[in-house]
Amino acid sequence: MFSNRISRIQPSLTLQMTSKASELRSKGLEVINMSVGEPDFNTPKNIRNAGINAINDGKTKYTPGAGMPALRQAACDKMYRDNNLKYQPKEVIVSCGGKHSLYNACQVLFQSEDEVIIFTPYWVSFPDFISITGAKPIFVGTNPEKQFEPNFEELVSLITPRTKGLIINSPSNPTGGVWSDEAIVQTLKIAEKNNLWVFSDECYEQLTYDCKFKSIANYTDKTDKILTFQSCSKTYAMTGWRIGYTAGNSEVIKAMSKLQGQSTSCPNSIAQTAAIEALTGDQSAVKEMRNVFKNRRKLIIERLNSISGVKCAIPGGAFYVFPDFSSYIGKSLNGEIIKSATKIAMYLLEKKYVVSVPGDGFGSPNNIRFSYAASDKDINNAINALEEILNEIY
Ligand SMILES: Cc1ncc(COP(=O)(O)O)c(C=O)c1O
Repeated sequence: MFSNRISRIQPSLTLQMTSKASELRSKGLEVINMSVGEPDFNTPKNIRNAGINAINDGKTKYTPGAGMPALRQAACDKMYRDNNLKYQPKEVIVSCGGKHSLYNACQVLFQSEDEVIIFTPYWVSFPDFISITGAKPIFVGTNPEKQFEPNFEELVSLITPRTKGLIINSPSNPTGGVWSDEAIVQTLKIAEKNNLWVFSDECYEQLTYDCKFKSIANYTDKTDKILTFQSCSKTYAMTGWRIGYTAGNSEVIKAMSKLQGQSTSCPNSIAQTAAIEALTGDQSAVKEMRNVFKNRRKLIIERLNSISGVKCAIPGGAFYVFPDFSSYIGKSLNGEIIKSATKIAMYLLEKKYVVSVPGDGFGSPNNIRFSYAASDKDINNAINALEEILNEIY
């Protein structure tokens, strides 16, 4: 019944875990949700008000397919202010979230016979964005001790004449890893030498804790094959508003606009108006949220690393930790041999109602992703529960 296209992709694992949490909650159970991929803060008031005013002022009609001119300009102003990136509105398209932007760009640039490089552990959606185009995702390993930077020997060895692009996601979901300048420069050199498209997914750009974020397109003068993806979702706690944007080569942007015009028409007009305020208005909430996340990172890392057998490097950004449970593999839990950390994550869910995301979905079966977009109380309770579960393993 279905096209080959749809059978090539998997349902989003993170969204599945979020539904699982809601299902348990609806049964009256006290769930601790450590699986969320969104800030646990409300959208800042100035942005909410801009949305309310947009409704009252009648900004409720279709907009140009690539987004309101004022928002495309606002995205340019924001990228110049925060990222030292100089783009014109014709080099920017606004889409229904960063996810939509990435999806559109893959549709425009990749097709069957192409190969696209993704670094493991990867965000769950990257392989599917590529597979649905008919292209093949190629997985390159990374070093957990060094912010999950690429294994460069492997990267070079996996490039073929078919390789068309690579996706960088620093800070990363699921690891929180932030690549060093050296790693970025080396990756860009390899990409340039092989004439690859570079997608830089910068949706966590405002969430780095140990150094100021620098956009990938800042590291080279040859930016014609670099596409920068940013989003209002994580930066302004606007996940449900669905506004993301892409900047880069104007021909690619034009092609993405054509596709968008024939699929979603345009992003939501009310959300676009609010996004102008988000990008150009008061930025103090961004800093406040970053400071809260930084403190929570410290808490969760200290708690995890105090458990013997759990290894967790300090991630430089985002709001995820990705501890390694390798030392438990092959041992026994609840009468069953642990084959991957999924067993631990599922047991934690069933017995303690703590929702996490097993590393399997990110290509890293010995890890579990915990989001610290959660209160200190939830973080402490979740790690207490994890410790109790791990104590049952022998
Ligand atoms: C790495 C990464 N890229 C992109 C996105 C897309 O976010 P949005 O579509 O809400 O902008 C997410 C969301 O979880 C993400 O984690």
